[in-house]
Amino acid sequence: MSNSQYRPAALVTGAAHRLGREFALALADMGHDIALHYHSSLESAESTAGELRERGAEVDLLPCDLSRHADLPGLVERARARFPHLSVLVNSASRYAAGNLASTRPETVFDQFAVNLVAPMELMRAFAADSESGCIINIIDNKVAYAQYDYAAYLLSKKSLAEATRMAALEYAPRVRVNGISPGVVMPMSSRTEDYLRWRLDGIPLKRQGEPANLCRALRYLVENDFVTGQILTVDGGEGMFQVGRHSENYPGDA
Ligand SMILES: NC(=O)c1ccc[n+]([C@@H]2O[C@H](COP(=O)([O-])OP(=O)(O)OC[C@H]3O[C@@H](n4cnc5c(N)ncnc54)[C@H](OP(=O)(O)O)[C@@H]3O)[C@@H](O)[C@H]2O)c1
Repeated sequence: MSNSQYRPAALVTGAAHRLGREFALALADMGHDIALHYHSSLESAESTAGELRERGAEVDLLPCDLSRHADLPGLVERARARFPHLSVLVNSASRYAAGNLASTRPETVFDQFAVNLVAPMELMRAFAADSESGCIINIIDNKVAYAQYDYAAYLLSKKSLAEATRMAALEYAPRVRVNGISPGVVMPMSSRTEDYLRWRLDGIPLKRQGEPANLCRALRYLVENDFVTGQILTVDGGEGMFQVGRHSENYPGDA
C-alpha cells in the first residue's frame, strides 16, 4: 500500500509558481500530499513538484483550464482517485485584469468571474459533495475592503468570492469548513516599479510588504483550527483598514 493511502492530501489550484506554489510547499511541510493544479505553466509545475517530493510529499500534476467549468468535477475526481484522503482544497488560481468600471466590457467581467468566482464555487461543490470532512480555503484579496480600485471586474469577482466563502461555510457545515485569506501586498507583479511599491508601502500601517510565510501561517491556522469556519483572515499589515477620511481636526479652516 503506498504512503498516499494514509497521508492527508490537498488540491491547490494555480500551484505551479508564485503564491500557489508557496501554499503547496506549506501544506507539504504540514504532511500533505499535493494534487498540484496548473494551467499553462507546465515547466514551473514540474519544478515545484520536484521541490514538493524533496519534502516527502507525493505529487500529482493536474492541468486544467478553470474557465472550462464542465471539467471541474473531473479535476476533483482525479485528485481524489490518486489521493483518497483528500481533505484540503485551496482555491488560489486567479485572473487579474486592469480597468475601471467605465473601461470594462462584459467579456472581461465574464472572464474574471469565470476563474475567480465560478471555478472556486464549482470546485467547492465537487469537493464538498464527496467529503466526510474537509477544509476549503479561498484566496481572496484585501482590496475587498475598498470600493475604489482600477481592477473593477477583478475586485467584483473577489468581493463575490468573499460572500461565496461565507455562504459555503454555512451550506457545507458541519462536514466541511470554508474560510478565506485576503492577502495585501505580498508578491506584486514583476512589472510594478520601485516608486510604485514605495508609495504603496507608505500606506500600510506596518510600513512593509508581507512575506509568503505570513500567508502560509494563516493557511496553517485555518487548516488546523477545526472550530473556525466562515472567516476571512486579512493578512495585509493593516492596509485594508487604513482608510483616511476627512475629520474636523484636520480641517485647515474654521470647522
Ligand atoms: N500576489 C499578491 O501579492 C496577491 C495580493 C492579493 C491577492 N492575491 C491573490 O492570491 C492568489 C495568488 O496570487 P498570485 O499573485 O500568485 O496569482 P497569479 O500569479 O496572478 O495567478 C495564479 C495562477 O492562476 C492560474 N490561472 C490563471 N488563469 C487560469 C485559468 N483560466 N485556468 C487555470 N488556472 C489559471 C495561473 O496558472 P498557470 O500559470 O499554470 O497558467 C497562475 O499561475 C490569487 O487568488 C490572487 O488574487 C495575491
